[in-house]
Amino acid sequence: LCFEAVGHIARVYVNDRFVGEHFGGYTSFSFDIAPYVSFGSDNFIRVEVDSRETNNLPPFGNVIDYMTYGGIYREVYLLVKPSLYIEDVFVKTKDVMEDEKSLSLQITLSDAVNDVIVMCELQKVGEDTWRYLGHKSVTDVSVLVETKVTDVELWEIENPNLYNVRVSLWGQGEKETISTNLSTKSIRFSKQELRKQGYILQDIYETRIGFRSCEFRKDGFYLNDKKTKLLGLNRHQSYPYVGYAMPKRPQQLDADILKFELGLQAVRTSHYPQSQHFIDRCDEIGLLVFTEIPGWQYIGDEEWKEIACESVKEMVLQYRNHPSIVLWGVRINESMDDAAFYEKTNAMAHQLDDTRQTGGVRCIAKSDLLEDVYTFNDFSHIGINEGLQKKSAVTSKEEKSYLVSEYNGHMFPTKAFDDEAHRLSHAKRHANVVETFYQQEEIAGAFGWCMFDYNTHKDFGSGDRICYHGVMTMFRNPKLAASVYASQGRTNPVLILSSSMDIGEHPGGYIGPVYAFTNADFVALYKNNQFVKNFYPDVKAKMPHNPIVIDDFIGVLIEKEGYSKKNQERIKEVLTGVAKYGQNNLPIRTKLKMVLVMVQEKLKFEDGMRLFYEYVGNWGGESTSYRFDGMKDNQVVSSIIKEAVKEIQLAVSIDTTTLVEADSYDVATVRIKAVDQNKQQLMVYHGVITLEVTGDIALIGPKSVSMTGGSTGTYIKSLGRSGMGKLTITAEQMEPVDIHVQVCQADEG
Ligand code: GAL
Repeated sequence: LCFEAVGHIARVYVNDRFVGEHFGGYTSFSFDIAPYVSFGSDNFIRVEVDSRETNNLPPFGNVIDYMTYGGIYREVYLLVKPSLYIEDVFVKTKDVMEDEKSLSLQITLSDAVNDVIVMCELQKVGEDTWRYLGHKSVTDVSVLVETKVTDVELWEIENPNLYNVRVSLWGQGEKETISTNLSTKSIRFSKQELRKQGYILQDIYETRIGFRSCEFRKDGFYLNDKKTKLLGLNRHQSYPYVGYAMPKRPQQLDADILKFELGLQAVRTSHYPQSQHFIDRCDEIGLLVFTEIPGWQYIGDEEWKEIACESVKEMVLQYRNHPSIVLWGVRINESMDDAAFYEKTNAMAHQLDDTRQTGGVRCIAKSDLLEDVYTFNDFSHIGINEGLQKKSAVTSKEEKSYLVSEYNGHMFPTKAFDDEAHRLSHAKRHANVVETFYQQEEIAGAFGWCMFDYNTHKDFGSGDRICYHGVMTMFRNPKLAASVYASQGRTNPVLILSSSMDIGEHPGGYIGPVYAFTNADFVALYKNNQFVKNFYPDVKAKMPHNPIVIDDFIGVLIEKEGYSKKNQERIKEVLTGVAKYGQNNLPIRTKLKMVLVMVQEKLKFEDGMRLFYEYVGNWGGESTSYRFDGMKDNQVVSSIIKEAVKEIQLAVSIDTTTLVEADSYDVATVRIKAVDQNKQQLMVYHGVITLEVTGDIALIGPKSVSMTGGSTGTYIKSLGRSGMGKLTITAEQMEPVDIHVQVCQADEG
């Protein structure tokens, strides 16, 4: 009987007999219940779950900045096994840069039996054929099969080739324990041959791997010997309404969002091991993972530490075949040094997995370094200084690798509904840190805090027990800061503007410089369809696409006034100065320029007023329309229009319209935005949205929600039966949106 996770203590009984207990809410565990089961009749399984935060185990003992939702929140299933079975297979790949790669399979059986054979095969994911790898007679519980393979493709970020490894166990017996059409197209050894020799198939174990090497070196991280800067975010595993309890699809979606919407290379599973579905998806899409044991700042007594050590063991054993995982975190996040404890956790991780390095997140500089990588939360950026400290300021272990495990977060909480200046400042802080990260070659990786807002305890948050630290909202709707990351990607054109171009969002009506987060070469600005100016990124910047500053909304438009070139520039400065400081508070230099221009061009006060209203104020008459074109190779690849709102619409996206019930119910994620006629999000829209479902689906969460900052979301789930369902989303003054969803069972095909 297997539990993928139970928060935080589970006691399992079968037919009222105690079977076993498990401590810790973030790793899986299983019990052999055969001795407690009455075969041929009904059996009663009872699980007592203790989710109190007063229990003596990680992460509890002091305060914690996130909710630690309790209950049986991941899958539970029965695994039917013969009495002799394969308990575990740890696959290691070596020499991956050679044509002939080495593969070693460390196989653990449930028992030591004589005259048993294990056979190993390999299959590229997506292909049919299995390749024979090797076989071995076994006499002990563990056996090592070492072999070489050629013609396999590497697991890379852009090309995450995966392989299935299958180990079959053959023994002497009455009949085969499992019936399977094991289609072994083996050249040197086949199942027919085994059967001829009297062997019978007993068990099969399959796991998925990738051929890759990963190494944190003193100058950075290397994947397959290629230096790779790891830009990532921290992810909690929580969702609105359900806490931790989300099945496979939403877990996978988070990985997809990180990789495809935010263009990242990596994620840190702060502060505990997360769903296998999430990590599986990271394997599939090439997103590198830094995972760690549960805990937050506090280290408890010996009993507590023992459970922490147990969770190191569980984490490594349960996750070590994932190619996406490149680093084990073996310290309690942000705890103080505790050499004896951490020597133990570090040694355990190395002993159970000699292929990966260790780190352990600390918030103290120059602390003990027992692990391989100094992983440090650098919250030094306050918006006006360098984005990150230098490696040398944090650790004197120059020869070791260095990684920034968190930045920003609580240094600048930002709500999706904060005003424009605040949201821009949030985004700029992320951009500043990213820029410093790219400048400092020796920083292997940097993981921003954090992917999305999350519920927290009373000691943190904004009074509503929410930490607004995300670059996305809880519903995974992007804030402006998300576009810093999204615009680093090279594939899809991205162009997001920091401003709605509404003066009322700003003190004194001065919008100020506007930032374009884009992967375009430059941005061309048009006002009322007339070209204003091209804007380019800073050539000195090291990040792939630093934001483009748009600070001149008059551009060449003023040429038609016929002033001298010099005076055109002076007039622009004066007009901008009036907007920024007000007519009476102009800096003295600007005032002098104003006088000079007025004399030279013979301008009267009324002329100045006219220029101001035409070029800056934009009041009255036809509403001003700004168009920003993202240009790549001199072609328009993205374009946005900012003008007065004339119409409001719902913009709804759903990650699937087919829910498939397999090992559990299925959930679709619905993201909802209010937008204008140009599909620009209405950042100050807080209207009520009504959600109604009919048919074979149910809503997760309330039937009416208010938007915050122009966005919200919901989830729909299947109900254990096939059929059709409909979600209708309505809001005042907007066209309703219907979404039709089909529900089917995986075994129906
Ligand atoms: C860190 C901590 C995170 C989160 C973050 C907020 O100190 O590790 O869990 O609380 O601060 O910025």
